[in-house]
Amino acid sequence: MQQRHKINVAIDGPAGAGKSTIARLVSKELGYVYIDTGAMYRAVTLKAMEKQIPPNDELKIVELTKQLDIELIATESGQKVIVNGIDLTESIRSNEINKQVSKFAGISKLREILVEKQQQLASSKGVVMDGRDIATHVLPNAEVKIFLTASVEERASRRYKEMLEKTPELTITLEQLKNDISLRDQMDLERTASPLKMAEDAIKVDSTNMTIVEVVQTIKELCIKKMGGDNHVIQNG
Ligand code: CDP
Ligand code: CDP
Repeated sequence: MQQRHKINVAIDGPAGAGKSTIARLVSKELGYVYIDTGAMYRAVTLKAMEKQIPPNDELKIVELTKQLDIELIATESGQKVIVNGIDLTESIRSNEINKQVSKFAGISKLREILVEKQQQLASSKGVVMDGRDIATHVLPNAEVKIFLTASVEERASRRYKEMLEKTPELTITLEQLKNDISLRDQMDLERTASPLKMAEDAIKVDSTNMTIVEVVQTIKELCIKKMGGDNHVIQNG
């Protein structure tokens, strides 16, 4: 049996591609830590909105971000996002945050603070991190880099289904959701500070017609190769 070594796994891609679902499952399979960087940008956005700080007030945003202790805690029911001791797991996923987050995420000084935290969290390896700039900027030396994507129709319909399960009387239509997602993708792709971009050495996985299990299996196999171990080692790991 070969010896395996710890690696870092970067998963980037547009909204609704399945990054967090897949990253969480891959991390579970490997016994790794999952880090949802989008949750960090969402947490700052929520706190800034609470304090009525607009995205163009960079100084105040930076000051606020430095005061936030953002903890990502893995639990049986998923990841909890705790900010200065308060559980914000649900509130950072609201429609209002969806609409505003990319404006705040475009602030390069805010990004510097969060990127430093993300790099610290991954410094001992054994991390699966998802976001927009993980392979290109946060962890350029990650051993496995995945660019996870799917058609915008598929991504909107996945998100819609997910929202319907939580709130059967949805006020938003599938078409509106698709427009919101496209708009956010556009902001993330076009901003100057670390835009969403596939790294040159990343592997593209188009999950439009793939099940969650198939995507997890594909990425897990790539990880196993890089870890220098076999599947048996991982499953018993
Ligand atoms: O889950 P979903 O794909 O909808 O979004 P998310 O991963 O929670 O990220 C929310 C927003 O944060 C994105 O639309 C980006 O504007 C920003 N983000 C970023 O700029 N860089 C990252 N590494 C992660 C998220
Ligand atoms: O994090 P990101 O915004 O990229 O996507 P997500 O929140 O993990 O996934 C959006 C929805 O798509 C979730 O309800 C998943 O269960 C579903 N889904 C998926 O992630 N992958 C597939 N191959 C099929 C569905």
